[in-house]
Amino acid sequence: MSVRKRIAIIPGDGIGKEVIPEAVKAVAASGADVETSQFDWGADRYLVDGVTVPPDGFVMLERDFDAILVGAFGDPRVASNIHAKDILLGMRFKMDLYANVRPVRLLDAALCPLKGIEPKHIDFVVIRENTEGVYTDAGGVFKQGTPDEIAVQEDINTRKGVERVIRFAFEYAERHPKLDGSPRKRVLMCDKSNAMTHAGGLWQRVFKEVGAEYPQIKTEHMYVDALCMQMVRDPRQFDIVVTNNMFGDIITDLAAALQGGLGMAASGNIHPGKTSMFEPVHGSAPPIAGKNVANPFGAILTAAMMLGHLGLTEEAKKIDAAVLEAVQQKRTTQDIGGALGTREAGDWVADKVGRG
Ligand code: NAD
Ligand code: IPM
Ligand code: MN
Repeated sequence: MSVRKRIAIIPGDGIGKEVIPEAVKAVAASGADVETSQFDWGADRYLVDGVTVPPDGFVMLERDFDAILVGAFGDPRVASNIHAKDILLGMRFKMDLYANVRPVRLLDAALCPLKGIEPKHIDFVVIRENTEGVYTDAGGVFKQGTPDEIAVQEDINTRKGVERVIRFAFEYAERHPKLDGSPRKRVLMCDKSNAMTHAGGLWQRVFKEVGAEYPQIKTEHMYVDALCMQMVRDPRQFDIVVTNNMFGDIITDLAAALQGGLGMAASGNIHPGKTSMFEPVHGSAPPIAGKNVANPFGAILTAAMMLGHLGLTEEAKKIDAAVLEAVQQKRTTQDIGGALGTREAGDWVADKVGRG
């Protein structure tokens, strides 16, 4: 018998508040044995009481939940973006969710802006280091406001941090076959070691060492600039890509475009064995927020990824299949060619999942 999974829901800001309810609807329709609790962390709450993360918020999430489903953070009324930093980066850093797993899949040829690319050509996964790099905010500003101002943003790369995310990538390759059932055979490390020699040197050495422990998996390397070019020239060549925090952020927006745009891209922030957090790749998209036009499929696919992570594989498959069918039948929002609103596209998927 399955044990009921407890899921914390944090919709956040902007379109997060529209797409997350659609993801929750799909989960409910799947029959997954879950119990959800809503949290109002985000800009609205911050503007009322100044609280970004309530005291012991992360301890509570870890103690009381099996997974967290998150929308997005970012609101023009909070220029400092302090709440996004505290909540989103807080979860990643303080809960030590060191691997940001961002699958890149094309559901329908019509969604890809590249000529001649079909679903069978795109099925790769970017594994992004999620707890260090330039995101630690180490550094400082000196002589601010003077002509001699200096801004330092340190790039922190620890042996432990680099090693564990690279190992995660190889383990992921071994455990997660492609959608067509074939095994994943290649892990590519992406860096900028030709210019950033200190950090790049560490990544290079660790990649070589860890890679040697997985002789059945081929190791490859690309500089991040070349990788961007190759992703557009021929995305067929990628299998697993592992990279640092910032490069992972940048290349996954590019990769989202291969899938039909930011509205289609899913992700999980994972520490094996710990409460992990799942969120679509996109942000809060303030200009389209509140208009019922945001694409909910990235959030819905993210919820399916979360269920898969929790071992609810049949339920996850039902949701994936329903989104695939919605795309094929053009029961989608306008960004990917349909004529439905956020809620209507979400309803269609939930209904399909329920019949499923
Ligand atoms: P964004 O992802 O919000 O939007 C980029 C573009 O993609 C916009 O044109 C937007 O309309 C479109 N888009 C995004 N999601 C969509 C969806 N589901 N359906 C249809 N179109 C969609 O990125 P941005 O504009 O750079 O950032 C806006 C705010 O979101 C900023 O405050 C930023 O810091 C924040 N942000 C948060 C997260 C997160 O919380 N995970 C991620 C990225 C950006
Ligand atoms: C993402 C976002 C975040 C990041 C921002 C909002 C800090 O762009 O999740 O991709 O850079 O990681
Ligand atoms: Mn991003």
